[in-house]
Amino acid sequence: MCGIIGHVGTTCSTPILLDGLRRLEYRGYDSAGIVVISESGAPLLRRCEGKLRGLENSLFENPMTGTIGIGHTRWATHGKPTERNAHPHRGENGRVYVVHNGIVENFAELRERLLAEGCQLTSDTDTELIAHLIEKRLDDGVKLAEAVRQVCRVIRGSFGIAVLSATHPDRLIVARLRSPLVVGLGENENFVASDVPALLPYTRRVIYLQDEQLAVVTRTAVAIQTFDGKAVAPEVSEIKWDRHAAEKEGFRHYMLKEIYEQPRVLRELLAIHTDRGERLPRLDMVGESVDGLAHCNRILAFGCGTAWHSCLMARTFIEELARIPTEVDYASELRGRRPFAGPGVLGLAISQSGETADTLAAAMIMRKQGSRLLGICNVEGSSLVREADSVVHTHSGPEIGVASTKAFTGQLMVSFLLAVELGLRRGVLDKDRAASLVRACERLPEQIENLLLDSEKIQQIAWELHQKTDWLYLGRRWLYPIALEGALKLKEISYAHAEGYPAGEMKHGPIALLEPGLPVVALVGTGPSADKMRANIQEAKARDALIIGLSSEPHLLDGLAHHVLELPASRVETEPILHAVALQLLAYYVADARGCDVDQPRNLAKSVTVE
Ligand code: G6P
Repeated sequence: MCGIIGHVGTTCSTPILLDGLRRLEYRGYDSAGIVVISESGAPLLRRCEGKLRGLENSLFENPMTGTIGIGHTRWATHGKPTERNAHPHRGENGRVYVVHNGIVENFAELRERLLAEGCQLTSDTDTELIAHLIEKRLDDGVKLAEAVRQVCRVIRGSFGIAVLSATHPDRLIVARLRSPLVVGLGENENFVASDVPALLPYTRRVIYLQDEQLAVVTRTAVAIQTFDGKAVAPEVSEIKWDRHAAEKEGFRHYMLKEIYEQPRVLRELLAIHTDRGERLPRLDMVGESVDGLAHCNRILAFGCGTAWHSCLMARTFIEELARIPTEVDYASELRGRRPFAGPGVLGLAISQSGETADTLAAAMIMRKQGSRLLGICNVEGSSLVREADSVVHTHSGPEIGVASTKAFTGQLMVSFLLAVELGLRRGVLDKDRAASLVRACERLPEQIENLLLDSEKIQQIAWELHQKTDWLYLGRRWLYPIALEGALKLKEISYAHAEGYPAGEMKHGPIALLEPGLPVVALVGTGPSADKMRANIQEAKARDALIIGLSSEPHLLDGLAHHVLELPASRVETEPILHAVALQLLAYYVADARGCDVDQPRNLAKSVTVE
């Protein structure tokens, strides 16, 4: 949700800011802007409505140079995505420039106060108020960092901000409250960003700013203090992600690249989270051990979007393989109710970014009520990682496509191994069964490779059906969460309407939607529910729906499906991952055939850091 970048050094900041914004565009792409301080000391501002390309073209035609600057790519909260609402925002006298990720909750009150004081506001945003508030303090003779610190105590809500002022042209001030900010350390230059991928070409040494901290970043130094004004020693972390991890590497879209990365990601996850000798899971868990968690009475799993589907899958894995009662909730709902939590209940938060506002709020509620919190997360140093008592990393590398793919299958693999390990510790599984489950996981990377090699059929179906505007996805038991995820993937990137449903519920409503030619994507597993699925497909077929059947046993679909996608044979417990990959490809090719912007679907953002 909005990307922030900043640079201070000896070389020109403009290309660095643009490159950073390009790498952060997945966080928002309504408008973009940068400000740099020129050699003569004048602030130069450029902002453009729409995607980053507009700003790039404008800067190509009319370049701006300077060795310090900040930039922003926006996902609109307050005010329409127009140029006047694009960041950076400035104070009235143009002495202060601010970029902001988050939301100012006392916006109305602050706006009224500033207007009453005679302030001329030029945008509808909450961010502009921050710039005015800081500038007023500068006018009163307060130094820049102190002015920012004072304002941080006045604004409520969530924010990551970067501030630049021509009065202090050697420094960037950044501050955070519940919105991520990272400082990157270079040689004779330093950077700030809302996310690590923006920094990968420049440095691997970073400082994750904590909540209620402010940093003064110059070319050669970083000084951190709390909002109370206490100095804090910076803690430097080393990023392990490969420099090219956030590049497209020849693929047309990040999403396609990330789909193809899945075999590698799963192999690496297995290497990290299993004992290769015994062929048993041995989760590399930071914090509390799996043993400690195995004694819980109940698990309450929560997340948003695709991560919520991971929670549904985790419930199936954990209930089936470890026999721990597991409940699932949307994080946004959980935070609004009074969940039955407490010391015997383990909170399981699943999140790719570790920064989703609702997931973090739900996590806090669980902890406040005495539950321990286990996070499954992809981004090291993220807020969830810091909040949780224990964390398992999904090690999927940076995921840039807004629609989650490799992070999702990474989450599935981790929660599967977690379930097997919990099952072992609780005596539900013996070592032989656990080892056979791990071996089934070990076959997955190659099975996915075969599926990817054989993706032509999926492309053909996608091309044939790409003009369809309504789709139904059906699955049962192990494949029900995957049906939901398949439908979500399609709707978020192709804008076709798609519903995921447990097949058994079809007769209770969705069957009314069936019309001749409506595509029904039916996931047929190898378990005992296959016969029931076949009956549901019959019902859809009898109403002239167009059936696309997925199964590793294509004969189950003989005479039933118009299109059959044969998947590699796998066990009932591991085949959901194969179905998930096939549906990612289907969504991708349909969206591409419809000419959609696959990596940056309209109105969406990768990381939803506001409520
Ligand atoms: C947004 C993204 C989804 C993602 C969800 C949760 O809606 O578009 O792809 O699944 O947020 O994000 P998280 O980072 O918590 O997994």
